[in-house]
Parts: sequence; C-alpha cells; structure tokens
Amino acid sequence: MLKSKIAGIGMYVPANVVTNKDLEKLMDTNDEWIQERTGIQQRRYAHRTDETTTTMGVEAAKIAIERAGITAQDIDFIIFATLSPDYYFPGCGVLVQRALQMKEIGALDIRNQCSGFVYALSVADQFIKTSMYKNILVIGSEKHSFGLDYTTRGRNVSVIFGDGAGAVVLQPTANEQEGILSTHLHSDGESAEILAMFNPGTHANHWANKNYATFNKAEIGDMFLSHDMINNAEIYPFMDGPSVFKKAIIKFPEVIVEALSKNGYTTEDLQLLIPHQANLRISQFVQQKLKLTDNQVYNNIQQYGNTTAASVPIALCEAWENGKIKQGDLVCLAAFGSGFTWASALIKWA
Ligand code: ACO
Repeated sequence: MLKSKIAGIGMYVPANVVTNKDLEKLMDTNDEWIQERTGIQQRRYAHRTDETTTTMGVEAAKIAIERAGITAQDIDFIIFATLSPDYYFPGCGVLVQRALQMKEIGALDIRNQCSGFVYALSVADQFIKTSMYKNILVIGSEKHSFGLDYTTRGRNVSVIFGDGAGAVVLQPTANEQEGILSTHLHSDGESAEILAMFNPGTHANHWANKNYATFNKAEIGDMFLSHDMINNAEIYPFMDGPSVFKKAIIKFPEVIVEALSKNGYTTEDLQLLIPHQANLRISQFVQQKLKLTDNQVYNNIQQYGNTTAASVPIALCEAWENGKIKQGDLVCLAAFGSGFTWASALIKWA
C-alpha cells in the first residue's frame, strides 16, 4: 500500500518582533510572569494590512513547493488549517489557489485550532494512500495579533499568541518503511467552552442574555455582532488556562504513546517529538512524563509564542532546517487544543 511522505516543507514568520517588554507598555504584565508561566520571550506580529493569514500561508507554501521540486501548478489539492481566516467565509484555501494561480483544484479548510495541522496532515495522508491525489499542499497559518484583547483584561490570553505559517507538500512513496506511519485523531466536546471564541456565532447565548425570544427585525444585526459584545470583550478568545493545562498534560502523552505503540515503537526509539507549542511548561511536563531527553523534544515557543495551527509545521520546518531531523529518523507530531481536540502523526522521515 502507498504511504505519503513530506516532500517539501517551508515556514514564514513576519519580520515584526514583539517582546514581552513591548507588551508591558500595553497592559499590566511583565517579562518575568510571561517567561515563568509560558516560556515565551517574544512573538511575531503580522503587518496590519500587508500580511494576512493567507499571505503568510502562501509564503510558506512557496518554499515547501520549491523544496518538493514541483511548481504550484502540480499541486492537486489544498488543505488549509487556521482559526484566524482572512474572511468568516470563504476559507483561506481558495485564496491560496488564487494567489498561486493554481489549477481549479479542490481546496478544503480545517477548523481544529491547535491540532488543525495534524488533522489536515491526516486528511491529506488518506487522499494520498488511496491514490486520489499526488501532490497535496497542507498549510497551517494564523494571524492572531488581529483579534486579541491588548488591555489588562485580556492579558492571560494575549501574551501567549503569535503569528506565522508553515506548509508541507505531501507526495506518495512506494517504500512502506518511510513516510507517515500512522495518524491518530481525538476529540472531547464536553469542554468546548473552556477555550473558545464565541462571537460572532449562532450560539443560544444571544437569546439567553437578551430578549430575543421573538423575532425582531431591528435586532438582527445585534444577534450576530452587537456593541455589547464588543464592550464586554465577548469578541475575543476565552481561555480557562488551568483547565486547559490539566487536560493537555494527560492527552499529549496519551496520543504520543498511542502513535508509538501502534507501530511497535517505544519512546526510546523516538528521535524527535514536535509538540504543538502551546506553552513551554506543558511541553516540559510531557517530556518528563515520557522520560524524553532534551534532544528528543523540539521547542521554539520562546521565539514565536503559540501560533496555533502554524506551530507544528513551523517547529518541524525549523528543526529540519537546523539539521535536527535526518532521513530515517522517527519523528512524532502531537497537538492538543480547543475543542478539545488532540492528534498525533508518526513519521519515518524520508
Ligand atoms: N501578566 C501578569 N499577570 C497575569 C497575566 C499576565 N499576562 N495573566 C494572568 N495574570 C494574573 C492573573 O490575573 C492572576 O492574578 P490574581 O492571582 O491576582 O487573580 C494570576 O496571574 C494567576 O492567573 P491564572 O489565570 O490562574 O494564571 P495561571 O497561573 O494559571 O497561568 C496560564 C496562566 C499561563 C495560561 C496557565 O494557566 C497555563 O499555562 N495554562 C495552560 C493553557 C495554555 O498554555 N494555553 C495555551 C493556548 S491553548 C493551547 O494551545 C492548547
């Protein structure tokens, strides 16, 4: 049976570096608190008008496509993972198709937040294994800086996130010993509201909080996005940090061990774990629990913050560019995030 392999990989981060000290000027926070709780020293913020989630994804894609030794016209499917799309709809996939002047290929958008890229990789893997497509472009990209609360009220969330993009080109390989060995996808919607952005949305809270029991034409605009929502900061991401932490440190190790066991490996066989860069403390906890050495875990959240769907491909690309991944290495990608959803992919690097 065919397997899929990563034939090309690329990343793009905006030039604008925002340090913890820069954030101190906007809200009541400090470098020590941020580093101690999250490990983050700085992050990148996209240019307000010139860089979008799509444009950053396109830049990462161009590199991945070139490294795969093909052209944009050879791509036969696009999968784009993000929680910060250019538009509410349509998704970013079609904007990539347009920007790179690709053929009229399929474009799919994935909304699985922090585990979005691993989910996207898993979907692409299935299309390659069934021979439906031969060159799939998978992108994870986020422009968080556009939608965060930069007042003290929003500091527990806003200091964590950064912008950037990563992309891979997936191709088939007939060598059963290499490529993506397996992917593992999970969800538990019980805690959907613990890490979420509620508005604009069609959820029932609009009706619970206000007197929308009867249809009133004048209030239709309010239902989607009201001044109250803006004034009460209900348009920003909400996170119950401690609850996320507790669940993440259980599910990350579980899904990593699941991928290894499924393929007859143990943690000792692993050359590199690329965890979603949620928080350095979460990665360190996972490392300790699995008894992995420093050399077996790649972290770059210190430099880029948490870039959600982009964090895994950015870390993977950087690790590869730094020579930390070589042909034949066993690499595990693992992610956990809003939903909750969590996922892993075990790869024998080709
Ligand atoms: N700067 C200074 N003080 C802050 C900040 C900040 N940026 N944010 C919160 N505080 C304050 C709070 O107001 C609170 O003050 P109080 O005690 O006077 O009320 C105090 O710090 C502790 O607040 P907590 O929210 O309890 O902070 P906690 O110690 O839990 O740390 C954190 C917050 C870092 C988010 C932690 O909960 C955590 O690591 N959670 C894991 C979730 C995570 O990392 N998510 C990343 C994104 S989701 C994902 O990718 C899966």
